[in-house]
Amino acid sequence: MVEDNNLETRLAEQDEFEPPAEFVEQANVTDEGIYEEFEENWPGCWEQAADLLDWYDDYDQVLDDSNPPFYEWFTGGKINASYECVDRHLDDRGDEVAIEWVGEPTEEADRSITYEELHREVNEFAAALRDLGVGEDDVVTMHMPMIPAHPIALLACARIGAPHSVVFAGFSANALAERMNAADSEYLITADGYYRRGDALDHLSKSREGLEDVDHDVETVVVDRLGDDGPGHDLHESEHDYDDLVAEHEGATVEPVERDAEDMLFLMYTSGTTGQPKGVKHTTAGYLAWTAWTSQTVLDIKPEDTYFCSADIGWITGHSYIVYGPLALGTTTVMYEGGPDYPERDRFWEIVEDLDVTQFYTAPTAIRSFMKWGSEYPGRHDLSSLRLLGTVGEPINPKPWKWYYKHIGGESCPIVDTWWQTETGGHMITTLPGVSNMKPGSAGPPVPGVDARVVDGDGEEVPSGGAGYLTVDKPWPGMLRTLYKNDERFIEEYWAEYSDTDSDDPDDWVYFPEDGAKIDDEGYITVVGRVDDVVNISGHRLGTMEIESAVVSADGVAEAAVVGADDDIKGEVVHAYVILEDDAGGEDAVRAAIEAAVEDKIGPIARPSKIIFTPELPKTRSGKIMRRLLEEISDGEELGDTSTLRNPEIVADIQAEVRGN
Ligand code: WTA
Repeated sequence: MVEDNNLETRLAEQDEFEPPAEFVEQANVTDEGIYEEFEENWPGCWEQAADLLDWYDDYDQVLDDSNPPFYEWFTGGKINASYECVDRHLDDRGDEVAIEWVGEPTEEADRSITYEELHREVNEFAAALRDLGVGEDDVVTMHMPMIPAHPIALLACARIGAPHSVVFAGFSANALAERMNAADSEYLITADGYYRRGDALDHLSKSREGLEDVDHDVETVVVDRLGDDGPGHDLHESEHDYDDLVAEHEGATVEPVERDAEDMLFLMYTSGTTGQPKGVKHTTAGYLAWTAWTSQTVLDIKPEDTYFCSADIGWITGHSYIVYGPLALGTTTVMYEGGPDYPERDRFWEIVEDLDVTQFYTAPTAIRSFMKWGSEYPGRHDLSSLRLLGTVGEPINPKPWKWYYKHIGGESCPIVDTWWQTETGGHMITTLPGVSNMKPGSAGPPVPGVDARVVDGDGEEVPSGGAGYLTVDKPWPGMLRTLYKNDERFIEEYWAEYSDTDSDDPDDWVYFPEDGAKIDDEGYITVVGRVDDVVNISGHRLGTMEIESAVVSADGVAEAAVVGADDDIKGEVVHAYVILEDDAGGEDAVRAAIEAAVEDKIGPIARPSKIIFTPELPKTRSGKIMRRLLEEISDGEELGDTSTLRNPEIVADIQAEVRGN
């Protein structure tokens, strides 16, 4: 015990950690010269990433920057993502496991899907999709839980050149409909349900409800996940059973479509400043090169590894680092259906032990929960197979970082704290695990070849030790190409802030991720969080404006403002400040109506943790709601300037209400 205490003290005081020697000995990248080499050879350095792929036709040019910010990468090249992730591994690794699927019920056997089996099922389903009418460039929407058919469907779409648009299964019927309409998507793949904390949950009713609001006809494929446990839906006429489709196409093969490097691979809707979700467009070669290269360089993935990322495929982390990156490298990727605390709080560690997991990648919110639950849960398991740990999605404080380092990594695994976004496609700021020292709380330097900086409001770099806004001054292969059918908004959202938008010189164009950041004297960047109206709830990215419009739509609400408030476990939670209509029912009724509206329009993850009723909202003289002030009130912080308010007297009342709430 005394020894343990010493250890805790030593860890608490240590603010820099060297990469563990044992790790470095075997790491994919160990030469710190990579930074200089990439800088000197930019953008040619990215040929290294392209070399990880097999090309039908080689590309003519690494980067075409003739029309910024519409950059094109590996132009002239031809490639197919399904071929890269499946076919090309068959000779060497056909019998090895591609996807190790773990269902939530412990009595259910895991499914180990070899590359050979994955190839067969991807082909059969690709043939089925074609027969349903899916053509090249048709957008196929998926609203799917974490079941094997999900990655199979992604790869089947990629095989026939049909871009996919995945809507997180936790999102509501309304959110599904909105995204299907925006993408003119005529195909939907969904499932009857899934298991969560021991219950068989109905999912199909939600998808069906969404389809009622889709303004065009849709062919739907339904995966039967629950069998007899499910609510036993009889399929509608426009619905096809996944198993039947695959059985009808048994043994079918579909030649992978040769896609242009710049052809769309997928769309992913994400939250931004306005209420309307943004359709982030990723293309084939640049995205795949980026996710494969970062999987190798940052996550240190090798084909013989068993790699476990606990994200959901419905978010970008699952796309890039459960499916495309790991499978492009021919490794074994683990996917788990359920929650971390079912049947007990050691479920992840049980999976790590059972499968001899070598890399584990999760979000800080999960780590904060593990820490709260206590070290006895990982302590029950032999985690010595682990070689590397990763985190993503939000800032991680030094305390949970050190807990993770000690209790999961046994002080022998490097931790990569990876900053990136839906828009960046893959990692942008992180230490290289076999090269750089780690500083808990700081993501680290930009990835080699990435020109991330911290600037002030005028775009001037801040001195070391300074704070400001994050920018990326040069393009990179994994970047979004535009917002779907909305080039103007693409420029407005990501470039206008720091670019000369009239210029056609790429040096005048700067990408703005809308994050605040600090930089230290060694160039380590700490990303502190969004500077726009985006909240990060348990690592899930949501827009306060989307939530606000749901709240306002509830019966009895006259006006509302939604802000993100700090939370020890979830990172942030939603607080809704609400003015009641004169003839509204009681507060309880309105509260229930608000909760229902948010669940209905977005999903349960966006539900406010606090609803604060107030007769007025703090407003500027021009009538703008001061959301910043409400955020300070929610966080119990000292309030900034209130002198510009039209109604400063309301502030104290609201504060009292929040304290009492
Ligand atoms: C935040 C998730 C600090 C950031 C991959 C970013 C982070 C947003 C980190 C993107 C990190 C992600 N440290 N903040 N390591 N990683 N973020 O699009 O605010 O769901 O802009 O992509 O998450 O969220 P998204």
